[in-house]
Amino acid sequence: MCGVHIFVALRIQISNKMEKFYITTPIYYVNDRPHIGHAYTTIAADVLARFWRTRFGDEKVWFLTGTDEHGAKIEQAARKAGKSSQALADEISEAYRFLWKELGLTPNDFIRTTEPRHERAVTAFLLRLKEAKTPRGREAIFEGEYKGLYCTGHEAFLKESELEKGLCPDHKTKPELVKEKNWFFRLSDYEKVLREKISRGEFVIKPVSRKNEVLKFLEQGLEDIAISRPNVKWGIPVPFDLSQTIYVWVDALINYVSAVGYSQNRVQFEKWWPADLHLIGKDILKFHCVLWPALLLAVELPLPQKIFVHGYFTLDGQKISKTIGNVIDPVELSHRYGNDALRYFLLREIPFGEDGDFSESKLKQVYNGELANGWGNFVARVAALGENAGKIKIPDIVTFHQIINEVPEEFVRLLDNLEFSNALEFVWQEIHQHDKELQDEALWKEGDKTVLHERLLHKAEFILWANNLLQSFLPEAYEKVKAKFTVRGNKLSIIKGEPLFPRI
Ligand code: MSP
Repeated sequence: MCGVHIFVALRIQISNKMEKFYITTPIYYVNDRPHIGHAYTTIAADVLARFWRTRFGDEKVWFLTGTDEHGAKIEQAARKAGKSSQALADEISEAYRFLWKELGLTPNDFIRTTEPRHERAVTAFLLRLKEAKTPRGREAIFEGEYKGLYCTGHEAFLKESELEKGLCPDHKTKPELVKEKNWFFRLSDYEKVLREKISRGEFVIKPVSRKNEVLKFLEQGLEDIAISRPNVKWGIPVPFDLSQTIYVWVDALINYVSAVGYSQNRVQFEKWWPADLHLIGKDILKFHCVLWPALLLAVELPLPQKIFVHGYFTLDGQKISKTIGNVIDPVELSHRYGNDALRYFLLREIPFGEDGDFSESKLKQVYNGELANGWGNFVARVAALGENAGKIKIPDIVTFHQIINEVPEEFVRLLDNLEFSNALEFVWQEIHQHDKELQDEALWKEGDKTVLHERLLHKAEFILWANNLLQSFLPEAYEKVKAKFTVRGNKLSIIKGEPLFPRI
């Protein structure tokens, strides 16, 4: 009847290689409230975490998110808001936590960089770094003086050549001329080893275009980097020089290891590290693909398995920004369209990795088209026929369960590559085919009961199969579908129930 049977015999190979899945999102700055851009990354991570939980079991998946709370950017935002840095951090961090809960996301842990467990790990990491030697046998950390242009928005020094009319091209602000004594990390000594590891595929950066971007950047040569700030008070003290605080990017990157017990819980740390996937936006590519692996190499920790860099999206063609005034509250969107629709839309509409545009009118279109009139309507029609048909006998219950639980290899491959939109398209091809069959069969006309039951059984089988594949994208609809098609013993009961996606 459909492609389902073809997959029964296929064995999943990709998943067997991995024994666990540790996935992270960036930890978000607490200078401002979360917006749809932050939700994008965290929703994508949630889809993957849910998917791999269904493959490996809950105890084999660790999904980490959190907030990045130190540094000059937060200090300044707090001053502007007339609050202490701690009070602002508490408030915004809570807003993130609340948002993830409202959106139905399922992180296993939420780390704040102001937590003692993180501060302890950062301190230990820095002490280890102080002892480290670079691949060229030099000390990884040294003291020096730095003069440069600091952009607080980026929390990074910019080169003169990167400015546009003296302003930071992203933040449109004038960077501050800073001349100070700092501790430096000898990043330049890691250029060759990073190039080798990336080229050989030992350290995977995806998509390939981003990998090439990093390789090109490395070819231009790396400069050593200041990793402490004498004039920023809101930070973790440098353990070997208490007059300085640790550069916020070094502090922040360490969250990926501190959250899984670095320097504090060896068993937990060995279970999860290295991360299987750091999910990030393209804005923070260099920090993750150059600075982070170099720091890890210096302290002799394994590198993350893979970094996936997604694109940026605009809102109705414009940059999402407070100044433009186009920031949409994701909580509001989720109340209007539901969590499933929001996650489905974000991952269906923009090919993951590419830039895109978000607009509420497109969200509405996809909601009505693919969800309400598409999947929702298809399920509703079968459920309506099923409710009138009474209990349906399942002749071969073992095969029935095999069919509905089969996960096609191609689908796993697509999700393993983070090709969300293609994974959904894969399911859609099947839905279209079954939808057409349903039209052609005209089951609502009077007919033979045995034939009707047989056809309905096939339809239910297909719906439960597709529902399993859609589960990590549409977790709320998944439960609703399961409640409509229930199996007890060898009997299938179907009820119409509530629509999956009420028309808006
Ligand atoms: N605190 C740092 C990250 C430290 S990770 C060790 C930071 N925080 S942030 O709050 O600015 O978050 C940036 C991330 O938010 C991006 O990398 C991306 O994941 C997400 N996005 C923010 N705006 C976005 C869009 N407009 N589009 C897509 N993703 C966006 O950088």
